[in-house]
Formats: sequence, C-alpha cells, structure tokens
Amino acid sequence: MSPSPASASTRAIHAQRAAERAVQYLRPGMVVGLGGGTTVLFALRKLAALLRAGELHDLLGVSCSSATGEEARRLGIPLTTLVDHPVIDVTIDGADEVDPGLNLIKGGGGALLHEKIVAQASRREIIVVDDSKLSPVLGTNRRLPVEVIAFGWRGQVAYLESLGAQVDRRLGAGGRPFETDEGHLILDCQFGAIAAPGELAERLQGRSGVVEHGLFLGLATDLIVAGDGGIRHLERQRPPDSSDDPRGERR
Ligand code: A5P
Repeated sequence: MSPSPASASTRAIHAQRAAERAVQYLRPGMVVGLGGGTTVLFALRKLAALLRAGELHDLLGVSCSSATGEEARRLGIPLTTLVDHPVIDVTIDGADEVDPGLNLIKGGGGALLHEKIVAQASRREIIVVDDSKLSPVLGTNRRLPVEVIAFGWRGQVAYLESLGAQVDRRLGAGGRPFETDEGHLILDCQFGAIAAPGELAERLQGRSGVVEHGLFLGLATDLIVAGDGGIRHLERQRPPDSSDDPRGERR
C-alpha cells in the first residue's frame, strides 16, 4: 500500500527544514538570490535571525518577487539589485515539481520570469522542497505556467492548445486576471506528463508574445528535499570541464 499523502502542516514542516538547511550554505559577504513562494519565506526568517545574531554579515539579497522583497525588508535583510550585482553567489528558491534530473516546474506564485533571470545569474541555485514536490516526469502533478503579454493573449491560448495543453488564464484577487510583477498574464497549461521538456521549452521560447515559461531545465545545481525520512541533499552532476561561472548555456 502506498503511504498516504502528507498533510499541509507536515509539508510545511518539511519545507521549513529544507529551507533552513539551505541557509547553512550562505557565507559572509555573499550576494544571495531570494526566490519566490512560501518555502523561501522560511529561509528568509532563518537568514534574518543569523544576521541579527552576527553569525552572517555583509550579505546582500536580490529579491525575485515583490512579496519576497517586502518580507526581506520587514525582516531587515539588506537588498540590492541585479544591475548593481549582476553575479549572484547562491540563490535559494522553491519549486512546484522536481524530476529526478533536478529539472523543475516553477511559477506557482507567478514570479517565474524574475526567478529564471536570477537563476541564470547564479553560481549556485539551491532548490528547497518538501518531498511531495518530487515527480517522475514534469507535468504529472502540476500545470505549467506560461507568462504572456496581454496584447493578443487569446492567440497564445490557441497556440498552447495546439501543443496539447488545456489552458486557463490565471485569476487573482477578486477574480480579476492575475498580473505578474512585470504586468503580464499567466496561462496555466495542463499538458499532463511532459515527455520532451526541452522540445516544449524551445517551442514556447520561439513564440512571440510568450515572455517566459515555468520549465527550469538544467538550472538547479542543488536540491534539498525534506520528508518523513529526513533531509536529502542532491547535487547536479556537472561535466568535468565546467567552470563555476554563471550559466550562459543553461536556461
Ligand atoms: C513562485 O513563482 C514559484 O516559482 C515558487 O517558487 C514555487 O511556486 C514554490 O512555491 P511554494 O514554496 O509556495 O510551494
């Protein structure tokens, strides 16, 4: 018999453990990417506590979303921008679904565009999740968010349907269309299991009006996952000659 799914409170406890473990990799003087979503909030709180205690210092955060930025400011975490600090030492971010190759679906909170820009600028991208986010194939458990500009958005729905998706425009407060921090719309796409995520990513990237999509392929360097059995830390296998520089070759 397969184990019953963890309750929301158990998942939150696991998410907190994973997020707090990731904070152990931060060092004084680092520029740190602060991702989006609820799991990252646990990392922010731990980071703020270490700053207050003087165990970390001279650290600057780059926020991926207005919500993360607000919380970081409230907690007293000093912030900078990617313009002033274009290379990030370590980013801590969450994910909606993670496959065995550390590829991700992200964007449940709508911050995928900024999150991907920050991931591309990061030497190390640590993804923190509870183990309910693990999946054999991306798309099995979560819809794929696709960020589009408002102009002609219905044309993007038709295009995504032609790729096999069932598409819903995301709604926000008061049933109004959800708007990202950049003022774009999100189309949530039910593809089912995505057999060839790289091909799908290319088709999405080649479409005018599509700004970004939630497939994060080859961007995570580390995965910290917590569950009933404890915490696991997985690292992406990198080719032997790969450098530590930010990843122009990844998307
Ligand atoms: C934000 O847009 C997302 O990419 C989040 O990182 C992702 O949805 C995970 O969010 P939770 O930590 O809230 O599950």
